[in-house]
Amino acid sequence: MIDKATIQKITDAADIVEVVSDYVHLVKRGRNYMGLCPFHNEKTPSFSVNSTRNFCYCFSCKKGGSPVNFIMEKEGLSYHDALLHLAAKYNIKVEEKELTDDERRQLNEREALMVANEWAASKMQKALRDTEEGRAVGLEYFYQRGVTEEAIKTFRLGYNPDSGHALADAARLEGMDRGSLIAAGVLAESQKTPGVFYDRFRGRVIFPVLNPSGKVVALGGRDLKGGIAKYINSPESEIYKKSNELYGIYQAKSEIAKQDNCFLVEGYMDVIGMWQSGMENVVASSGTALTDGQIAMIHRFTDNITLIYDGDAAGIKASLRGIDMLLSHKMNVKMLLLPDGHDPDSFARQNTPEQFRNYVRDHATDIIRFKAQVLLKDVGDDPQQRVAAIQSVVTSLAHIPDKVKRNVYVQECSRILGVSEEVIEDAVEKSRGGVVEKQMMQRQKRDIDRMDSEEANPQPGVTGNLRPMKGNDVLAKYPYYPFEKNVVYNCVRYGMLDFCEVEFEDGTIDMLNVAEFVAEDLQEDGIWFSFPAFAKTFNRILDLKEEYQNARVAFNVGLEKERQSLLKAGYDEIAGKAMSVAEIKRDERRLEESIGEEMSKRRFEFSRYFVEQALSSHHDDDVRRTVTEAINDEPPLSNIYLRNNPVSERQMELDRMHLLVPRGVLEWKNEVLNQMIRSKMAQLSNILGKTDPETEQKLLLETQALMQKRGELAKAIGDRTIGKKIRNV
Ligand code: UTP
Ligand code: MN
Repeated sequence: MIDKATIQKITDAADIVEVVSDYVHLVKRGRNYMGLCPFHNEKTPSFSVNSTRNFCYCFSCKKGGSPVNFIMEKEGLSYHDALLHLAAKYNIKVEEKELTDDERRQLNEREALMVANEWAASKMQKALRDTEEGRAVGLEYFYQRGVTEEAIKTFRLGYNPDSGHALADAARLEGMDRGSLIAAGVLAESQKTPGVFYDRFRGRVIFPVLNPSGKVVALGGRDLKGGIAKYINSPESEIYKKSNELYGIYQAKSEIAKQDNCFLVEGYMDVIGMWQSGMENVVASSGTALTDGQIAMIHRFTDNITLIYDGDAAGIKASLRGIDMLLSHKMNVKMLLLPDGHDPDSFARQNTPEQFRNYVRDHATDIIRFKAQVLLKDVGDDPQQRVAAIQSVVTSLAHIPDKVKRNVYVQECSRILGVSEEVIEDAVEKSRGGVVEKQMMQRQKRDIDRMDSEEANPQPGVTGNLRPMKGNDVLAKYPYYPFEKNVVYNCVRYGMLDFCEVEFEDGTIDMLNVAEFVAEDLQEDGIWFSFPAFAKTFNRILDLKEEYQNARVAFNVGLEKERQSLLKAGYDEIAGKAMSVAEIKRDERRLEESIGEEMSKRRFEFSRYFVEQALSSHHDDDVRRTVTEAINDEPPLSNIYLRNNPVSERQMELDRMHLLVPRGVLEWKNEVLNQMIRSKMAQLSNILGKTDPETEQKLLLETQALMQKRGELAKAIGDRTIGKKIRNV
């Protein structure tokens, strides 16, 4: 854990223009910088960097944020690792917080495994080029298979000499920790002669497996002599769960995000073959069936996946296996079969990169269509097999969470399978119940597993989903989501600005800031945030007041000093010009006014941006994401407004704040009333004529009272604006 002071140091030092410039060519435009968005493909720049607010965002894909957030997204790093990345850039020494003994032991174990793997990978990389045997056997093998120098470098390919003691000797000479090398599966102890250690990967070419941060977590070694085990891999360890890694993810991740698609292949060499053919957005599941963890990792960078398989019978069968899981993860899945007997590696060698890319472009088919076609082709005329095939397609359809998407497929499958839409739809909806239940149980189990492993891992590699959550998923569970969002966004934008005075019974007067006003106003009607990320963010904003007040005192002291020195310099300059006393008086007044205006502007901006400065690098994913999205989503000040009202930007912002903040709360309350009225009406129509008149009368009165309250609210909001989009002010 990094302590709070160091985090502050890092976020203070990290300059958004400098950080972004490492990835994007920026051009100054007025007060901001613009460049081509690094998160998606584009030809005209829509990526904007605001140096005063130390914030960046893409107008088009909406990604960006504080320097920490930018690095997290761009490098696919955890919060912790992104801070380390920035600390390294700015030469800041990181003080990690005291850990418990248990945490330290685990951390040390992880650290030791990482060191062992990195050491071994480097040694093997060197041996490939610097030893006679490496060149004659290892390098020659790669050349034979058409691997380029560039790929050898990028994938850090290596060779472990055949003698069986090359690494064991080097480890002893260099005083490497033998225990860690054994735990990492680099060395093993001889069973025949205990106390003798040998290289496990001897005589093999090496494919290091890198995690998304580029750390070596495992090695894969390919046999070159026709032995029994074609590949041996590192054993599972604290840092390597085979089923959760994807070979090539580090090299592919930014291209996956950019292309918004990920190719999935089976083997090490397939990744390299695709990569060399110019399809760099490729990863391998290393021969095993795709797991939830791997899908989640891909999902952090894209919604779209294209599975590539050998066109033989085994390939087709394998391709159909992971479908349902991918569909339930809301991935759009395409499928590509290579000509019979080919894997991507062999196909890449027999075709030019362009031919390969064209083949991929022309042959990728939607997975469900593919499945329906394949199954149908197999069954022939056997009615029983036909039913089984249809049922199998139906099961896949039932795994699609989105109803609209499901229905599109129902239509299409009805056509392919020659079964009426109604029949398929009916079967799908029936089977859906079971699927949902199963998914819920799996999810619960996953959550528990994850909590367990997060507890066990004080410093998890990369967990949290870095992609924003989708609104329509949330709406079913949180019916006031858009209203809560609007209110919390307003508080991110204006939270610390003074809103109104309140008088207490004892006559003292206090100033409520925007966040406090909102809190009181909500509580008055017993309403509060239900969406967890918003509730958390709002509470953080409320908590900021004290910190804000202290910071403001310090800020004002500095500002006053600056004002004095500006004034002095200005007076001196005026005095230097020979002018009449009246002219001097006039110039001095102008000077004081313009400096006064500048100072008010700075004071305003300090308060206006306090919340975003304080929270846009917050460690909590929910808080940081909410704040980042609120800033990204900020509508620009309207030009029309500016033309009609020749006032300062500050005044415009204040006007807008006084308009939008109370309206946001009122609209939320209005929706609460709407839903209450709707439910009362439903109750009424259910009992009408079926119960005693007294109960009926009571319900009727309650409904009327609610409607009257809604009428009053509407007046408060202004009839015109109810139901209108908030943005159209
Ligand atoms: P393949 O047997 O298809 O090998 O296994 P390949 O990738 O085509 O290898 P080449 O072209 O013969 O060199 C696919 C993947 O399954 C994993 C490896 O990741 C391999 O790339 N695998 C396979 C193992 O981990 N162990 C094995 O014994 C075999
Ligand atoms: Mn192969």
